[in-house]
Amino acid sequence: MTSDLQIPALGLGTWPLDDDGAERVVAQALEIGYRLVDTAFAYGNEVGVGRGVRASGLPRDQVFITTKFNGDSHSVDGARIAVERSLEKLGTDYVDLVLIHWPMPWQDRYVQAWEGLVAVQGSGLVRHIGVSNFLPDHLDRIIAATGVAPALDQLQINPRWTQPEARAFNAAHAIVTQSWSPLGQGKGLLEVTEIVDLARAQGLTPAQLVLAWHRALGLVVVAKSSDPDRLRANLAAVELTLPDDVVAALSAMDGTEPHVLSPLTFGH
Ligand SMILES: NC(=O)c1ccc[n+]([C@@H]2O[C@H](COP(=O)([O-])OP(=O)(O)OC[C@H]3O[C@@H](n4cnc5c(N)ncnc54)[C@H](OP(=O)(O)O)[C@@H]3O)[C@@H](O)[C@H]2O)c1
Repeated sequence: MTSDLQIPALGLGTWPLDDDGAERVVAQALEIGYRLVDTAFAYGNEVGVGRGVRASGLPRDQVFITTKFNGDSHSVDGARIAVERSLEKLGTDYVDLVLIHWPMPWQDRYVQAWEGLVAVQGSGLVRHIGVSNFLPDHLDRIIAATGVAPALDQLQINPRWTQPEARAFNAAHAIVTQSWSPLGQGKGLLEVTEIVDLARAQGLTPAQLVLAWHRALGLVVVAKSSDPDRLRANLAAVELTLPDDVVAALSAMDGTEPHVLSPLTFGH
């Protein structure tokens, strides 16, 4: 089965905004032109995201909402209950995309969670189903069990952590790869000398350069900013085209990521 997923190139990330912050930033981003909002049960801000979407005045079908559920919902019934709980918090009657947030292989219940999502997909409560932080071994198992590939896999990707094997697997299975923390989470990536120099040579900011690099690799992106000027600049950056040698120079930084996040970092 293949997916007919149509997804904006850049979405608004909402971690670590609380409900009030999410309401304000989501409404602002939608006003600026964003059409995708990324949340999760674990972020504790689905209520605020829903309020922000409604405050924008946009028709519901003009906004793509992604949410995710935790490891304690990894069962067939748990997936459905998690979706219903998120819909209630968001105040909407469907989500565009729901993801298993992390495979949590030590629980060994992500196959059941995927079976649950496959069952929910027919219900009208979700338009598309996908996963996050799933690597090829995890994907092989859920596809073998159900015959259904996720529409999308959201992965931590940036020029210092490019995940080539996972991206290649996803491409081969028509799974859209979406980058999370595409700007390195504001923790130094944008100050790396090589990135600063490459950006200057292209007449771009480091953030613009990095976002354009994601697009050059065929990735869609969720990036967080609470700043209207940055929101605007980030949205414009995903339309930029970089020279091939610049893309290659950024990709060659792979493996220099100083730390890799895990669900334990986020406490979920
Ligand atoms: N699936 C998962 O497991 C997972 C894990 C983590 C995150 N996510 C999702 O991915 C989204 C994005 O990741 P992230 O928030 O971790 O990191 P990110 O988007 O890579 O970086 C966000 C940081 O970069 C700053 N920033 C944004 N635009 C900038 C610009 N143009 N110039 C300079 N700094 C800029 C932001 O600060 P300001 O706000 O001050 O602009 C913020 O500190 C999250 O919000 C969440 O929705 C998913």
